[in-house]
Amino acid sequence: MKLFTTIAQMREEREAIDGHLGLVPTMGYLHAGHIALARQAKKENAVVVVSIFVNPKQFNPGEDLTTYPRDIGRDIKLLEDESVDIIFAPTVEEIYPTGHSTYVNVDQIASRLEGIQRPQHFRGVATVVTKLFSIVNPTRSYFGQKDGQQLLVIKRLTQDLNLATEIRSVPTIREADGLALSSRNLYLSSQERQAAPVIFRSLCHIDQLWQSGERNGNILRQEIRRFIQNEPLAKIDYVSIADMVDLEELSIVNEPAMASVAVRFGKARLIDNILLEDIV
Ligand code: PAJ
Repeated sequence: MKLFTTIAQMREEREAIDGHLGLVPTMGYLHAGHIALARQAKKENAVVVVSIFVNPKQFNPGEDLTTYPRDIGRDIKLLEDESVDIIFAPTVEEIYPTGHSTYVNVDQIASRLEGIQRPQHFRGVATVVTKLFSIVNPTRSYFGQKDGQQLLVIKRLTQDLNLATEIRSVPTIREADGLALSSRNLYLSSQERQAAPVIFRSLCHIDQLWQSGERNGNILRQEIRRFIQNEPLAKIDYVSIADMVDLEELSIVNEPAMASVAVRFGKARLIDNILLEDIV
């Protein structure tokens, strides 16, 4: 496994690679969710690059940039075990040298849900992902369904800017009790950790209602709220059932939709989603 920290090294290596290359962008502190992305990439490509970069531009002031967990030594071991070929772990100065002033803005879809709570977040994500695509030139790039809005934003920008990478999505990896794996689960106290599976339970509950024919968006959103509000440690940021094109809230849920929530438990802000689609 090779570890590159400069753009020049990464580009030089890329030029020597002939076959399909899969890129897995991450912010490190890897868990089984990230590993699932790397495994999928490994199956579908000759060479796999995992990037590790805690991107300051996607954190809003007051968010957890300085305390975001980091452990590159541990990440390297985990990726070695997965036979990943290359780690690209640039410094902040390498990605954003003094004078950097170009940003990628995705309208509409990036302004909703997380975009309301975290202005500039998707501008940061879209900018760094575009830069990674430009540096690594991947055949395919891998993103988790866990961050459903991020996935839609990246699909949109790839299409709009005619970027030559295929966007592949990977299903959410969960703990046995349904809690979606996330680096931020670390911020949960043991009491909060016990309460947090209510998020996924609320989504499964409305999935069942939807499967049995309930199509009223307000009722479905209300049911999610009711479920989560039963848990006194949970504070809801938003509950959404939206279409998968512009993330417009649906009053009638007839088309493929994403049900998503953001919930605070103490210091931790957790997001999760499921897709409401006909089972074929
Ligand atoms: P990060 O939070 O490290 O996540 C990296 C990738 O892992 C994302 O595509 C995310 O959706 C996926 N992922 C996280 N938890 C997952 C889970 N439980 N199951 C499946 N996939 C999961 O997302 C980012 O970093 C950044 O915004 C990034 C795209 C790297 C840009 O900076």
